[in-house]
Amino acid sequence: MTVKMVIGTQWGDEGKGKVVDYFSKDAEYVVRFQGGNNAGHTIKVGDEIYKLHIIPSGVIQGRTGVIGNGCVVDPEVLIYEIEQLKKRGINPKLLLSDRANIIMPYHKALDGAEEKLLADKKIGTTKRGIGPCYSDKIARRGIRSCDLISKESLRKKLELIAPIQKQFYKVFKISEGIDLEELVDKYSNYGSQLKQYIAPTHKILNDAISKQKNVLLEGAQGTMLDVEFGTYPYTTSSNTVAGGASSGAGIGPRNIDEIIGIVKAYTTRVGEGPMPTELFDDVGKHLAIKGHEYGTTTNRPRRCGWLDLVVVKHSCMISGITKIAITKLDVLNGLPKLKICTSYIFYGKNISEFPADIEMVKECKPDYKEFSGWEEFDAGVSSFKNLPKEAQLYLKFIEKQLKIPISIVSIGPGRSETIEV
Ligand code: GDP
Ligand code: IMO
Ligand code: MG
Repeated sequence: MTVKMVIGTQWGDEGKGKVVDYFSKDAEYVVRFQGGNNAGHTIKVGDEIYKLHIIPSGVIQGRTGVIGNGCVVDPEVLIYEIEQLKKRGINPKLLLSDRANIIMPYHKALDGAEEKLLADKKIGTTKRGIGPCYSDKIARRGIRSCDLISKESLRKKLELIAPIQKQFYKVFKISEGIDLEELVDKYSNYGSQLKQYIAPTHKILNDAISKQKNVLLEGAQGTMLDVEFGTYPYTTSSNTVAGGASSGAGIGPRNIDEIIGIVKAYTTRVGEGPMPTELFDDVGKHLAIKGHEYGTTTNRPRRCGWLDLVVVKHSCMISGITKIAITKLDVLNGLPKLKICTSYIFYGKNISEFPADIEMVKECKPDYKEFSGWEEFDAGVSSFKNLPKEAQLYLKFIEKQLKIPISIVSIGPGRSETIEV
């Protein structure tokens, strides 16, 4: 029995969906523990491509997907995603925590309005209502999935909350109104549709663990988007680090056996905020084009740059990562020279810890170590020793720097394009 976790070590889109799908074959439950439909996880099976935003990636392998209490859930999106999967022949086995907070229409309106107000200082959110929903959760005025089941109790809760939201609307100069009865009708209707999935998932998971079943925890976003350890305020609004899984799924930290950190062989970021290794040259273009670096959720182009080990080391430390999975190594094929950032230079001073102050991060220049590149390698390579020698050196350098073993090397989006080391 193991409780395994997959988390992103960079700014998201590291290939968590692919790796979660790969590990799902051995899991009974695959659990999302934070975030909402700001996530976009891609799974490729043969010629079929699935893009999941709120449903855990494990459902593609027929496993039970659990949306944990730490997630924020837009019921409209969840219902749509279930329908889309059904249309493609997958009837997802799902459980939704009775304690998960619900993204309401006013959260989405406020997300957009706040970004508009920030203008050129905006965060570049996905505008899915994530930040306002988590704010309401912490301020104890959230609607939770259990509140959607009884229309009367939903009305009572909204009678208390709606006037506060109306005040926010005034502050942000949002002209449309909030119709209480419309909200009650719409969201209790969602409740009727989702009732079959709503359950005390923390209890179900703890029972499964005590019965020696395998549980896989699926992180969303990445460590640099963590609300405490990321590039604050250019982050998301949840704890994306490993510690978030314990509170976000209701599993004691001592039950977690393995924490797999996903490291893209280079760096990408969507949205605003500093990214020290960002490239604006032909290499950046190579990574964007060859890596198809467009956001899975918003379709925005992802910013691309060299691998940043200051970032990855920071992530490994915070989350106590036990194994590394390197993804998208194939995207580096054909580049004559490669670089890895090993520290930053801040006004002549060498820095190896990721700074807290965002203004300082903006001034950090990467200090690089250079590597020889390699030609194309065959998509069918199935062992580490059959990778080009230069690629092996690149990977061994990462392993040595992180002092954590690489257990997976992904060389393509498909399941078979995965090397176990
Ligand atoms: P996630 O948010 O971490 O799950 O990552 P996304 O799904 O948003 O973005 C990763 C993208 O890279 C997806 O389109 C994947 O299909 C793709 N991908 C994953 N692993 C590899 C790989 O090793 N090589 C290549 N070329 N693509 C990959
Ligand atoms: P996955 O799980 C990449 C980014 C947004 C924005 C910031 C805040 O696919 O890796 P939010 O809507 O969360 O308030 O936006 O976080 N962001 C992501 N970037 N991958 C994601 O998820 C992301 N989820 C949020 O672009 O910069
Ligand atoms: Mg993604």
